[in-house]
Amino acid sequence: MGDANSSPQSGWPIGWVDTHIHLLPGLDDGPADMEAALAMAETAIADGTTHVIATSHANHQWGYQPERVAELREQMQASLGDRLRLAAGCELHLSFENVQAALANPRLYSLNGSRYLLCEFPEFFERTSMGKALEDFRRLGVSPVLAHPERNPVFQQHPNTLLDYLRLGCYAQVTASSFGGRFGKRAEQFSAELLQRGWAHIVASDGHSAERRAPRLSRAYDFIEKEAGTETAQALCSGNPMAILLDQELPYAPSLAESKRKGLWSRLRS
Ligand SMILES: [Fe+2]
Repeated sequence: MGDANSSPQSGWPIGWVDTHIHLLPGLDDGPADMEAALAMAETAIADGTTHVIATSHANHQWGYQPERVAELREQMQASLGDRLRLAAGCELHLSFENVQAALANPRLYSLNGSRYLLCEFPEFFERTSMGKALEDFRRLGVSPVLAHPERNPVFQQHPNTLLDYLRLGCYAQVTASSFGGRFGKRAEQFSAELLQRGWAHIVASDGHSAERRAPRLSRAYDFIEKEAGTETAQALCSGNPMAILLDQELPYAPSLAESKRKGLWSRLRS
């Protein structure tokens, strides 16, 4: 899945880099056909996105088809020309079978063939055994990118479990619209909290369509800039995701402090 063309070396300007977007047509609950996929790409372009990693679901409902993904990526890139740079990967649901398959061949599943693997947690999971799976990935040099932890009830109730996973060398990818409340009050509060603590490393759209679940990052950027400053906003929407695309170390990864404000976590749980 590695794509030497998916780099900014060609001199393309870098805007938003969206590392979680269900863009390729007919593979999952993203766009049904190429026309809808191209409309979705136009929404991303209009919002200032210059690079995406198209991540179709790899779960019990939608099997991952790397060859088909590569084919569709090429077709879409040809239609879009130099207006949006497309790379590909998948959103790996952490079922037992998927974990075993990805441990056997991590770069088949990873983001643009990099060390970074986009992982979707089941809504409820056993924390210790999941931690062991993440350790297994780390031993292979894989860096799990945890998709939308702010939306997961286990992380919402046990934020220090997320901290444990981040300490293993995982990264947290927050959905852009969580900051605006799209996934409810609890996810909204938790996303702001992750940002404040320096536990949020990447923002991505998790876009599924041109309008309803649109691939936009601008509003999240504005929110982060206001709350945490321009440098952090740039890092989350552009710098860190570009490093993922290029298989480089993340430039922004603050040190991880223990959760001290117990009262706040309690408020989140209530
Ligand atoms: Fe997703």
